[in-house]
Amino acid sequence: MSQKIYIAPSILSADFGKINEEIASIDDYCDLIHVDVMDGHFVPNITFGPGQVGKMRSKKPFDVHLMIENPEQYIAEFAKGVMSAVGEELYAQSYLVVHQETTKDLLGVIQAIKLLGMKAGVALNPATSWETIEGLLNDIDLIVCMTVNPGFGGQKFIESVMPKVAKLKELNPKLLIEIDGGVNDQTARLCKEAGADILVAGNYIFSSPDRKAAIESLR
Ligand code: DX5
Ligand code: ZN
Repeated sequence: MSQKIYIAPSILSADFGKINEEIASIDDYCDLIHVDVMDGHFVPNITFGPGQVGKMRSKKPFDVHLMIENPEQYIAEFAKGVMSAVGEELYAQSYLVVHQETTKDLLGVIQAIKLLGMKAGVALNPATSWETIEGLLNDIDLIVCMTVNPGFGGQKFIESVMPKVAKLKELNPKLLIEIDGGVNDQTARLCKEAGADILVAGNYIFSSPDRKAAIESLR
C-alpha cells in the first residue's frame, strides 16, 4: 500500500466554543478540514450554518459535508462561507459534498457547485449502492463513502461498505474516494486496502492527547 493518503479531521468532534483554536491545533498536520453540516431533517442533529462556517479560519482547503435536504437551496451561501474562511486560492481547492439521497437532480447540483468555482463531491450512505451514481462518475470530483449512518461522531465503522469502495476504484482508478465514519488506526488499514484516498476522522483525532501523532498514524 504505497498510495498517498490524505487526512481530513472532522471538527464535529472539536469544541465548538473555541473552534478556531481547535482548527489551529490540527491545521499544520492535516490536508483538508472536514466540516459536518447537519440540518435536523436529513439527519437527527444540527450543527453549523453558513455564517458559522464563514467565521472559521484555516490554512487548508475545506471539505464541507452537507447532510441537508434540498442542498441546491444552500450551496451558494455555504460557498460564500468557505471563501471567507479560507480565501480565494484555497476556495478553488475546497469541496462542497452533497448526499445522493437528498436531491432528485444530482447532476444539476454538481454543476451548480462547479459553476461557483468549487470542487463537487457526492456522499453515499452505507446502504446506498454505487449504481446510483454510475452514470455521473466523470462529473464528480470526490466520492464520499459513509461507513456510519450520518448524524453523529464516534460511531462504529461499518466494514461491509469496503466492497463498494473497491468497486468504485475498479470502475475508475482515477476517482478520488473519501471514507467517513468510525475511522481509527485499525479501520484505516481496511480503508487503504480497499483503495481510499482521503480518510475523515473526528473522534479518533480530537480525543487523542497527541493530535499530530493521531493524524500520522492514519496515513
Ligand atoms: C457523521 C459525520 C462524520 C463523523 C466522523 O455524520 O459525517 O464526519 O463526524 O466522526 P468519527 O470519526 O468520530 O466517526
Ligand atoms: Zn462527515
